[in-house]
Amino acid sequence: MEEVQNQEEQLVRILGIETSCDETAAAVIENGRLVLSNVVASQADLHAHFGGVFPEVASREHIKIISAVVDQALKDAHVGLDELDAIAVTRGPGLAGSLVVGMNMAKGLALASGIPLIGINHLEGHLYSAWVPQENTDYQEPHFPVIALIVSGGHSSLILMHAHLAYTQLGRTLDDAAGEAFDKVARLLELPYPGGPSIQKAAENGNVHAFQFPRAWLEGTWNFSFSGLKTAVLRSLQEQHADGRPIRVENFAASFQDAVVDVLFKKTTDAARQFQAQDIVVAGGVSANRALRNAFLGQTEFHVHIPPLKLCTDNAVMIAEAGYYRFLHGFRDELDIDVLPNWALINA
Ligand code: KG4
Ligand code: ZN
Repeated sequence: MEEVQNQEEQLVRILGIETSCDETAAAVIENGRLVLSNVVASQADLHAHFGGVFPEVASREHIKIISAVVDQALKDAHVGLDELDAIAVTRGPGLAGSLVVGMNMAKGLALASGIPLIGINHLEGHLYSAWVPQENTDYQEPHFPVIALIVSGGHSSLILMHAHLAYTQLGRTLDDAAGEAFDKVARLLELPYPGGPSIQKAAENGNVHAFQFPRAWLEGTWNFSFSGLKTAVLRSLQEQHADGRPIRVENFAASFQDAVVDVLFKKTTDAARQFQAQDIVVAGGVSANRALRNAFLGQTEFHVHIPPLKLCTDNAVMIAEAGYYRFLHGFRDELDIDVLPNWALINA
């Protein structure tokens, strides 16, 4: 009986809440290992009309459904509020009006229940999606030192992770984030929002060698730049228009995607070699890209951890997972914390 009680005492259950952009999400995880629930309500269809995320619309939608999303996450997990050990919520970076909705929800629950609140950096969440065990696989957690590539709609960073919650930023994008480049080029090609999946789909029937688009290697640094590539796509499009040639969207998509994947893959593996990393983590919305995944999974030099597709794009499991490690390391926040829309993961 006593043993059973001890086992029960060791259970750590974290509720994660994520509303930094256009997904309203809540999830419950147990001991950082077991996903008890994962609810994601996407507004993508709504924003497709605008060709991008419309901040006022996003925050209004979050307000409408946040309570139902959190309720559903607790219900799916068969966990009551009083059975939680902490509430982890995205504090930033993201859209201010959207972040506030999740934060207020989390504060309200923490205040009502006395359960501690832990503010999470959204990028730390993306990183920790690699620590969520994948179903039906022989899961092994990443070994430090880890080289992590975070590629999302708002950020592209190359990070050296020494230990849990200990990071050095090696490089970042000097202009557009990788996902932003996908979204902008998709718009040029008149493909629907969100651009990443549209380009991936179009590229399936395209020729990667149709165009020799530039790769910004930025030798001697671990930084990225994608705006020159975007401009090159625009110029080629304009030339073809001017010549009255038919536009082969699939060839543009394939050649563009190949250029992005080439740079992300080579710089990440070079960094892993230089810093003698044991493992590589690739996370963030762009890590859902099949060509990028194939590039990493096709090499045998490093053990590469890429989250399953549903954990690549925004979700609350990753926020709960980062919350779990912060909880274990003793982090707790006051109930008067504010959202930080421009919060950097590392103050470089
Ligand atoms: O991580 P995320 O869901 O939100 C942010 O934190 O920004 O990432 C969204 C980004 C968008 O730019 C989207 O176009 C891109 O991830 N993305 C993809 C794919 N799926 C989503 N990019 C390339 N290929 C994909 N399959
Ligand atoms: Zn994200």
